[in-house]
Amino acid sequence: MAKETISDLKANMVKRILGSIFSRPVVPKTDADRRRTILEFLVLHMRPVRVRRSTLRYTHTFGLGGMSLVLIGLLMASGILLMLAYDPSPEHAYRSILALQDGMLFGATVRAVHHWSANILVAVALFHLLRVFFTGAYHGPRRFNWVIGLALLAGILAANFTGYLLPWDQLSYWAVTICTGMLGYIPVIGDWLQAFARGGAEIGRGTLVLFYSFHTTVVPVVLIVLMAFHFWRVRKARGVVSPNPQDRQKDDDTEKVLTLPHLLMRELAVGLTVIAVVMLLATLFDAPLGAPANPGMSPNPAKAPWYFMGFQELQIHLEPLIAVVILPTLGALALMFLPYLRFDREMSGPWFLSKTGRTTGALAAVVALVVTPLLILIDEFWLQQVGGAGWAAIGVVAAGAIAFAAFLAKRFKPEKAEFVQALFILFLVAFAILTITGVWFRGPGMALVWPWIGG
Ligand code: HEM
Repeated sequence: MAKETISDLKANMVKRILGSIFSRPVVPKTDADRRRTILEFLVLHMRPVRVRRSTLRYTHTFGLGGMSLVLIGLLMASGILLMLAYDPSPEHAYRSILALQDGMLFGATVRAVHHWSANILVAVALFHLLRVFFTGAYHGPRRFNWVIGLALLAGILAANFTGYLLPWDQLSYWAVTICTGMLGYIPVIGDWLQAFARGGAEIGRGTLVLFYSFHTTVVPVVLIVLMAFHFWRVRKARGVVSPNPQDRQKDDDTEKVLTLPHLLMRELAVGLTVIAVVMLLATLFDAPLGAPANPGMSPNPAKAPWYFMGFQELQIHLEPLIAVVILPTLGALALMFLPYLRFDREMSGPWFLSKTGRTTGALAAVVALVVTPLLILIDEFWLQQVGGAGWAAIGVVAAGAIAFAAFLAKRFKPEKAEFVQALFILFLVAFAILTITGVWFRGPGMALVWPWIGG
């Protein structure tokens, strides 16, 4: 073959440049071409063209972000169908749900799909947060995406909570009464905030209309905008973090594969599995529906939805101001500012940076597992008999947590990221135990019970 000379190369380059300016855009000719082009546009707007092979391993992300997206899709599709049958007024809301369940083809299934997708989404988004936290994917270029993620989580909780009231049954009416009641403990603006959230002084028509409009318009729009922003930031960061920390320095293409089809096929498999699981659950178990709401008679026990139950349990033990205002605010602020702390080194990828990190993490989990139930029992069977936990007991618990943190720092000398991780595990496990206690181990009068006897 004749060798290309410099002047050939130059001529070819000029031809290519002129060609790209004056030629007409390539138009897909066949239907298959057209479908492929649309798919590429769609996928490559949200994903980088190439991704690292190592990030495709299922156990790296568990596909949790993609699962959240699929669940939101299911929620929107089933939600639009539910809107066709639902009537947002205190007189008709409950009856419209009954009519949907009993009188419409697949009505109960559509409602169950919505119910299960919503609850699974809260759990999946929380696990996604944990995966991102434990792989240190909140450092460097992903800092702000962590904050967007937190806003998404708040949006998901808001969507769930506003939807909770809509069936207008005893369960939903009183759960919303309890949760909006918590707002009243916020100093200065608490009463105003409570009246705002209830759309009036009491829970009634105003609340239902307010919740319905937030649930069906405001929150979904905010979620869609935030999700677009979230995916764009993942793309800007060139995909998810690599499991190998040393990959961060080198950015060559040798380790990369095309997003289409490699990542897309895996995401498709995860998405279809999620849909299958939700459909199975929805076929086997209906969404719950209690007796119609009765503002004059509270059920016993009256509980918040499971994702807020940890706070209700905390409220049994601590001053309400601490349980439902100070601690949640501190927790949210700590999560928000986490990526902006000064770390010794910003390492992303492995779940634990060293053996020290694994040891301090395990120790924190064990301490929380043992101490939290103990404190619950001490308060239930001793302190509450002598007048409640009070500020002194709260001081003792806080001092205990500080002493434990000081012990970890002195004894193990962990890196800052490992120290933060151990504290996170401590509070996470404690909160999980509070939630489990509230959901399964509280009976009439919110007394402790065995779930199989009187839950
Ligand atoms: C509607 C809820 C959410 C959706 C649909 C969503 C979706 C996604 C997807 C598809 C990815 C890339 C793949 C993966 O990691 O599975 C991702 C990555 C990420 N998400 Fe989310 N996410 C949501 C909520 C959250 C939350 C609650 C947080 C944390 C506060 C968060 C923080 C992040 C971060 C920092 C990344 C980049 C991770 C990395 O580079 O390894 N996201 N998200």
